[in-house]
Amino acid sequence: MNRRGRFITLEGGEGVGKSTNLDWVCDWLTERGIEVVRTREPGGTPRAEAIRALLLDPAPQEPLDDDAELLLVFAARAQHLARVIRPALARGAWVICDRFTDATFAYQGGGRGLDMQRIATLETLVQRGLTPDLTLLLDMPVDAAQARVDHRLGQAGGQRDRFERERLAFFQAVREAYLARAAAEPARVAVIDASRPLTAVQAELGEYLERQVAQWR
Ligand SMILES: Nc1ncnc2c1ncn2[C@@H]1O[C@H](COP(=O)(O)OP(=O)(O)OP(=O)(O)O)[C@@H](O)[C@H]1O
Ligand SMILES: [Mg+2]
Repeated sequence: MNRRGRFITLEGGEGVGKSTNLDWVCDWLTERGIEVVRTREPGGTPRAEAIRALLLDPAPQEPLDDDAELLLVFAARAQHLARVIRPALARGAWVICDRFTDATFAYQGGGRGLDMQRIATLETLVQRGLTPDLTLLLDMPVDAAQARVDHRLGQAGGQRDRFERERLAFFQAVREAYLARAAAEPARVAVIDASRPLTAVQAELGEYLERQVAQWR
C-alpha cells in the first residue's frame, strides 16, 4: 500500500532563516530519494497567494480587522490543503512547508492577542485532523532576527510588509507563543537555536531529520 507522505513545517519569526533552511531541508530529503513538495503559507496556490497579498499589503487607508485576518489565513490554508498538501501526501510525496498553523497561533494568537481556543476551533474545522508530523522551530532573539531582516531589505530593496511594520513587543509575543507551542508538543516540535552560523543550524537540522526519518522508515 502506498503510505501517506510526511508533512514537515519550518516555523519561526521574521528573519530567523526559514526560507534559507527550507532549501537545505528539501535538498537533504531529495538526496535520500524522497519526493518533496516545497511550499509556503500563507499561499502555496495562485488563489491562496492572492490572499497572502491581501494579508501583507500595508494599505494604511483601511486597517485589516483581526478576525478578518484570522479568517483569511484559514481561507488560504483550506485552499492550500485541498489543492496541494492533501493530494501530495496522498500520493506519498513529502510536503515541506514554510510556516503553517503554529504561525497562526504565534502571530494571530500571541502577536494580535486573539483567543487561542478560537484559533484551535478553526484549526479543527479546516484541517480535520491533518497536522504536521514534524515541525522545525527556528528560534533566536527578536532583535538579532530583526537585524537580519534589515540587512536583507537593504540588499534586496523593497518595502516592509504589514507584519514587518509591527513593533518589537509584537515579535516578542510571537516568539513566546511559538516556544509555548513547542513546550506543549515536544514530540512534534524541535526547537533549534537559529542565532548560530548557518553550518551549525544545518548540522542540527540534519540530526533531527536523520533521527525522524529513521523512526518513520
Ligand atoms: N544562520 C544564519 N546566520 C546568518 N545569517 C543568516 C542565517 N540564516 C539566514 N540568514 C540570513 O538572514 C536573512 C533572513 O533569512 P531568511 O529570509 O531565510 O529568513 P525567514 O525566516 O525566511 O524570514 P521571513 O520570515 O521574513 O520570510 C537572509 O538574508 C539570510 O541569508
Ligand atoms: Mg522567508
